[in-house]
Amino acid sequence: MSKQFQNPFRPGAGHPPPYLAGREEEKKKFLKFLEQDVIMENMILTGLRGTGKTVLLDSFKPLAIADGWKWCGTDLSESASISEDNIVKRLLADLSVVTSSIAVGKEEFRRVGFVDNTESVELKLNYGTLLQAYEQTPGLVSDKLKFVLELAWGFLKESGAKGLVFAYDEAQNLSDQALKEQFPLSILLEVFQSLQKKECRLLLVLTGLPTLFPDLVKARTYSERMFHVVVLGRLSGEASRDAILKPIEDANCPVQLTPESVTTIVDLSGGYPYFIQFICREVYDAFIQGSHSVPTDEIIRKLDSDFFAARWARATDRQRELLTLIASLDNCDEEFTVRDIVSLSGREDLGVKPFSSSHISQMLSTLMRTGLVYRNRWGKYALAVPLMGRFMRRETGMN
Ligand SMILES: Nc1ncnc2c1ncn2[C@@H]1O[C@H](COP(=O)(O)OP(=O)(O)OP(=O)(O)O)[C@@H](O)[C@H]1O
Ligand SMILES: [Mg+2]
Repeated sequence: MSKQFQNPFRPGAGHPPPYLAGREEEKKKFLKFLEQDVIMENMILTGLRGTGKTVLLDSFKPLAIADGWKWCGTDLSESASISEDNIVKRLLADLSVVTSSIAVGKEEFRRVGFVDNTESVELKLNYGTLLQAYEQTPGLVSDKLKFVLELAWGFLKESGAKGLVFAYDEAQNLSDQALKEQFPLSILLEVFQSLQKKECRLLLVLTGLPTLFPDLVKARTYSERMFHVVVLGRLSGEASRDAILKPIEDANCPVQLTPESVTTIVDLSGGYPYFIQFICREVYDAFIQGSHSVPTDEIIRKLDSDFFAARWARATDRQRELLTLIASLDNCDEEFTVRDIVSLSGREDLGVKPFSSSHISQMLSTLMRTGLVYRNRWGKYALAVPLMGRFMRRETGMN
């Protein structure tokens, strides 16, 4: 007997979807980065929460490997504050994953200036060796790191690698902590820029929230030229339909969706990948239990309590009042300015005490720190969570 068909949808951070829809352009762009003779441009994947940065980054890995590249990297989400020492260890640990099987004759190692007191005639380029090389190199953190990466790249190249990708997810966590005199981000940028100039084929691929690129430019102005930003947004109508239908296109699948149901799901999700997975999972479960149409109200309620409520709960009463004003802007799901909010402030039907523009700016800064709002490079604001505007309108009884 064939295995029972399971609900294929996967709402969850970093969980690969059953079908990765509509990201062909981005994959093509990634392959273009690999074609560079001398690496001059590195890639940033940015977008709101749940737009599919992590799963797209994961999908690049087999593409790079099939093209003869090596791949290493990590998820930096746990690293709320990275020190310089941490970033060095991080890079060396990641690098060692692809170099540890390379054996280097001790003589060769001595020639580049290293002393090793062990008995063995050859050394593996594992973490211990890389760290030893790092520690024996004189100079600043960035000089030491450059030297080790260049050395490792030399051996990788000799072993036939076309290049090496360093992929970092949630890279916005690297932001410099100037107060503690720690500049991990600046070190990373400086090291890669300098090695790329020396024609080492090391490519950086970073993903992060929209604050990432402005932070990089703030750390090193040349970042503007060093990176190409690819913004992940909502899926097109066609891609959304693929994301919904492809996973259930199987003779054994007990659920069939009518075109009307598919349209309802597309509208409800706004084309945002996380919401598509979330809604489809609910719809699938409802359908196998006898439902024939999308239980819209139930799904909205569940989305509100599972996804939005926790974010809303983090706001204070006065912040909620400000968010209420934002939610009533026509452009609240896109970009808005302090002036847009001021123009609504004081409107009696909204029942909110007026805000001055300086107060609004100040509160938006606080909301940015809690991850509800972000500001782009041109000083415009947006809600950091997709569809949050619609949720707030429901929450405050506006629709
Ligand atoms: N192109 C796609 N087609 C279908 N589903 C997708 C697609 N991209 C992402 N998803 C689904 O959307 C959800 C969110 O994806 P992912 O975790 O990669 O987003 P993210 O941008 O990294 O979010 P965060 O900012 O929270 O880290 C996952 O459930 C994933 O399976
Ligand atoms: Mg992610």
